[in-house]
Amino acid sequence: MSADDQKRAAGEAAAAHVEPGMVVGLGTGSTAAWFVKALAARKLDGLRCVPTSEATADLARELGLTLSTLEDTPRLDLTVDGTDEVGPGLALIKGGGAALLREKLVWEASNRCLVIADAAKVVKTLGKFALPIEVVAFGHKTTANRIADVLADHDIAMPARLRTAPPQAASLREASVGDKLAGVVRTDGGNVIYDAACGAIHDPARLASDLKLITGVVEHGLFLDLADLAIIGGDGGVEILTP
Ligand code: 5RP
Repeated sequence: MSADDQKRAAGEAAAAHVEPGMVVGLGTGSTAAWFVKALAARKLDGLRCVPTSEATADLARELGLTLSTLEDTPRLDLTVDGTDEVGPGLALIKGGGAALLREKLVWEASNRCLVIADAAKVVKTLGKFALPIEVVAFGHKTTANRIADVLADHDIAMPARLRTAPPQAASLREASVGDKLAGVVRTDGGNVIYDAACGAIHDPARLASDLKLITGVVEHGLFLDLADLAIIGGDGGVEILTP
């Protein structure tokens, strides 16, 4: 099974968890897109969906799903989203698609969160995938210096790199030409992303709280104690992981 087939299998399995009348958070990325397609195909009555990015909103609208917002539906029944890594206890690294802030807002507003992924995303230690850190554009280089200090304190020598090349172009937006940040990826909220090549994150909880203390850091891609279930697509079908 190709990685895309595994993503599709996970997305389709997750769609079976949705019931009529639910308010559902829609994740961002290629795996989440399979879920959105499978969900739309079910044509459930009374379903309302809160997208985590403009890209997902566009897809959901195209497929005829009814969209809502956190303002109109502040509490969600379920969110289904992809991930970049799944570690022990369903600790995650997310944000490869630059939607981490909206994703975390929607996840935290949800009664249950399902993460869907292909088997290659499952790791023993988080950190092989560079950790995305969303930073306010104003003074971002100063903020990056403070991020480097925090990373050094966690024995991570590599400074985080400003994201200029979209790893998942579909869900990313680049600054317009003429902007001082031309060529730099901007999030749906207009912020920039620094990617920290951590190698191995030995204390994700401490790193998460240290990063949040930096003024200018809006959010980071460590999703800890948020996923209730993981649906992993593999060669032998889907596997369910619990925290
Ligand atoms: C977006 C994300 C995505 O869920 C993550 O990057 C996984 O993407 P894909 O399903 O395309 O592999 O966190 O911000």
